[in-house]
Amino acid sequence: MSLTIYRKAHFNAAHRLFRKDWSDAKNKEVFGKCSNPNYHGHNYELEVGITGKIDPETGFLINLDVLKQIIKEEVEDALDHKNLNLEVPEFKTLNPTVENIALVVWNKLRKKIDAKYGLEIKLYETPRNYVVYSG
Ligand code: NI
Repeated sequence: MSLTIYRKAHFNAAHRLFRKDWSDAKNKEVFGKCSNPNYHGHNYELEVGITGKIDPETGFLINLDVLKQIIKEEVEDALDHKNLNLEVPEFKTLNPTVENIALVVWNKLRKKIDAKYGLEIKLYETPRNYVVYSG
């Protein structure tokens, strides 16, 4: 029997969606307001789901204090209050769409969470737009 336990987290970040090899007009046409040259911010909401079995000794699936610390170091410290395009190395050449941010976050967490657990994340860019990714 396996269960999934979730931990929520939050970060604010600024970004701009654009391609250097496109004209300003084409960037505006494709990315709309998200291509504003002066950047804009979002309040990102993250849900991290860990799937596994209950440890009969502790009753825990995973120690949530440990998970909280991993999310803090890998996600909040790396992304909170950052300009994703300018300050986060993963987005130097990768457009910081919610899709790509979800992939980057998942890859960072996957490296720190024991392989015996399943990992799924849900990342909200707005209350209505979100991505679910599980590898
Ligand atoms: Ni945006």
